Amino acid sequence: MGKAIEKIYEEALAELETASDAEAVKVISVRYLGRKGYLTKFLRNISKIPPEERPQAGKRANELKSILAKKFAEASNRFEREAAEAIDRIDVSLPGRIIRQGSLHPITQTIRQICDIFSGLGFQIAEGPEVETDYYNFEALNIPKDHPARDMHDTFYVSDNIVLRTQTSPMQIRVMEKQAPPVRIIAPGKVYRRDSDLTHTPMFHQVEGLMVDENISFGDLKGILTTFIHRIFDEQTSVRFRPSFFPFTEPSAEVDILCVMCRGKGCRVCSQSGWLEILGSGMVHPAVFENVGYDPKRYSGFAFGMGIERIAMLQYGIDDIRKYFENDLRFLRQF
Ligand code: DAH
Repeated sequence: MGKAIEKIYEEALAELETASDAEAVKVISVRYLGRKGYLTKFLRNISKIPPEERPQAGKRANELKSILAKKFAEASNRFEREAAEAIDRIDVSLPGRIIRQGSLHPITQTIRQICDIFSGLGFQIAEGPEVETDYYNFEALNIPKDHPARDMHDTFYVSDNIVLRTQTSPMQIRVMEKQAPPVRIIAPGKVYRRDSDLTHTPMFHQVEGLMVDENISFGDLKGILTTFIHRIFDEQTSVRFRPSFFPFTEPSAEVDILCVMCRGKGCRVCSQSGWLEILGSGMVHPAVFENVGYDPKRYSGFAFGMGIERIAMLQYGIDDIRKYFENDLRFLRQF
C-alpha cells in the first residue's frame, strides 16, 4: 500500500514537468489535490488499509500532499512571473500589424460614378432581370426574328424564347410598360454575349438611359450626354456625334470622344483615328412607343447605352478588359 502513494507522487511530479504555464499547473493540481484528486481519494479510503499499516501510510500521504502543494505553488508563481516579464519585454516602438481593408471593385466604382452623375441630372435607377425573354431583349425593341441586327448580338440562348440579355435596352420596355411619361431612368447591369478577346468578355456591364416626355428633342440628348461625358472624364474632353443605326432609335447617333490617350494625335488605342466610340444613342423609335402603349404623336424621347468596362478602361488606361475579371489582387489594390 505504501508503494501506491509513492507512485501517485511520482506521477504528479512527472506531470508537473510537462506544464508550460500557470493554467496547466492548476489543472494538474486539481487532478491530484482537488476534492476528487488522486491523493485526496487515497486519504479518504485510508480505512481500507490494514490497521497496522494505516498510521504510517496516513503520515506519508499527508507529507507528500504538502510537498506537492508547495511544488505546485512554486511552479505556478514562476510561470506567472515569467509571463509578466515577457510583457515587459514587448518592444512598443515596433510598427503595428496593418489589417488590410478590402475596396470596391473598379467596375463597381465606375457604375457608382455613372449613377451619381445621372442622379444629379434627375434620373432614377432601374434594375431588371439578366435572364430575359426574346420579346423584351429583341422583339419589343423593333428587332423582329430574322432581323439582321440580331447577328451583331452573339446571343446565349437558354431556350427558343429565353435568352441571357445581350443589352440593357430591354429595361426601356420594362420601365415604360409600368409607368406613364415623364420617364427619366438609367439601368445599369450585367449583359452577356458569346465573345471573348482583348476587348470583349462573355459577361460585361452596360448602362441604359431613357428620357421621355412631351417635347424632348435631339438637343436634349446632346446636352445630357455632353454633360455626362464632361463629368465622367473632364471638361476638356471633346465630343462628336456621328450618324449611326439602331433598330429602336431614329435618328441614331454614336458618340465619340477625343482619344483620352493621345488627345487626338492618333495612337494604338484609337486605331490612329484620334477618336474613341463610347456610346450609342438616338431618338426613341415610334414603333417602340407603340409597343408599350405610349402615343408617339404626343411623346418623344431619347435613349442611350454604353459599355461600362470600356469607360473604366479609358478612365484608368487599362488595355485588356480581362484584367477586370481575373481578381488579381495586385491589379485590384491599385483602385
Ligand atoms: N443596346 C445597344 C448595344 O448594346 C446600345 C444602345 C444604342 C442603346 C442606342 C440605346 C441606344 O438605348 O439608343 O449596342
